[in-house]
Amino acid sequence: MEICKLCHDRGVLVQGNLAVPCSCSAQRALFKLFKESCLPSALRSCTFDKFSFKYYSRQVTDPAKGISYHESARLTFSAALAFVSDFSRKAGVDGLLFTGPVGSGKTFLACCIANALLEKGVSVLFIVVPDLLDRIRSTYDPHRGPGDLTEQEILDAARKVPLLILDDLGAHNYTDWVRNKLYSILNYRLNHSLPVIITTNINLEDLEEYLGERTTSRIYQMCRPYRLLVDMDIRVLQRQGKGK
Ligand SMILES: Nc1ncnc2c1ncn2[C@@H]1O[C@H](COP(=O)(O)OP(=O)(O)OP(=O)(O)O)[C@@H](O)[C@H]1O
Ligand SMILES: [Mg+2]
Ligand SMILES: [Zn+2]
Repeated sequence: MEICKLCHDRGVLVQGNLAVPCSCSAQRALFKLFKESCLPSALRSCTFDKFSFKYYSRQVTDPAKGISYHESARLTFSAALAFVSDFSRKAGVDGLLFTGPVGSGKTFLACCIANALLEKGVSVLFIVVPDLLDRIRSTYDPHRGPGDLTEQEILDAARKVPLLILDDLGAHNYTDWVRNKLYSILNYRLNHSLPVIITTNINLEDLEEYLGERTTSRIYQMCRPYRLLVDMDIRVLQRQGKGK
């Protein structure tokens, strides 16, 4: 952000004997909120109006639900919109779990929610699960810098933020250590009625095999599951579209 020409970043303007907030204050607060969300800059442009339904087939049917991929995407999109409007209106709103294959728009839609709520001034934390685990592991390094966050601080941020997005809770190797970290975050949020949005490639019925019973059971309790299904990776389709 550029230095404010009105207040020179003091945040206040003097009018007569009064100090009044400068118009840049609100913008500065929003900027801080976006920065603290850890949302990568490329994902700031993911907004509901840019979500296209053309990638979701009207012909192919999800055998589990008996509805087309297109209908499934519509339902998922509506649930995401409803989450945003409910979030500010009532406490203890249900979280969402987006499942689906690689390149089906799960992260895109989770970021639409993040961006919409950040714009409303809500604190959101966007965490890519493997990165979170790497960050926690790095706190065990005896040579880490004095200013680096501790494991407790990292976990607390994920436990307590009003909205947590756990992106890519994928089919990784879930050791007991990893399972315990995820459990401690989700259990805290469940006990404090704090919602979480999760994106994963793992099928609902396979979740327990990866995460264990305790964590999976909590995810079922906290999140309503939705599917984004595509017959082809949207990344590949977009790449082909560019080549034309
Ligand atoms: N509905 C959509 N409309 C427009 N672009 C989309 C849509 N869904 C996804 N994209 C674009 O397609 C690419 C892949 O989407 P995304 O990262 O959300 O997939 P994903 O389901 O999270 O995949 P992965 O399982 O690999 O994490 C991104 O570049 C994204 O911007
Ligand atoms: Mg993703
Ligand atoms: Zn100013």
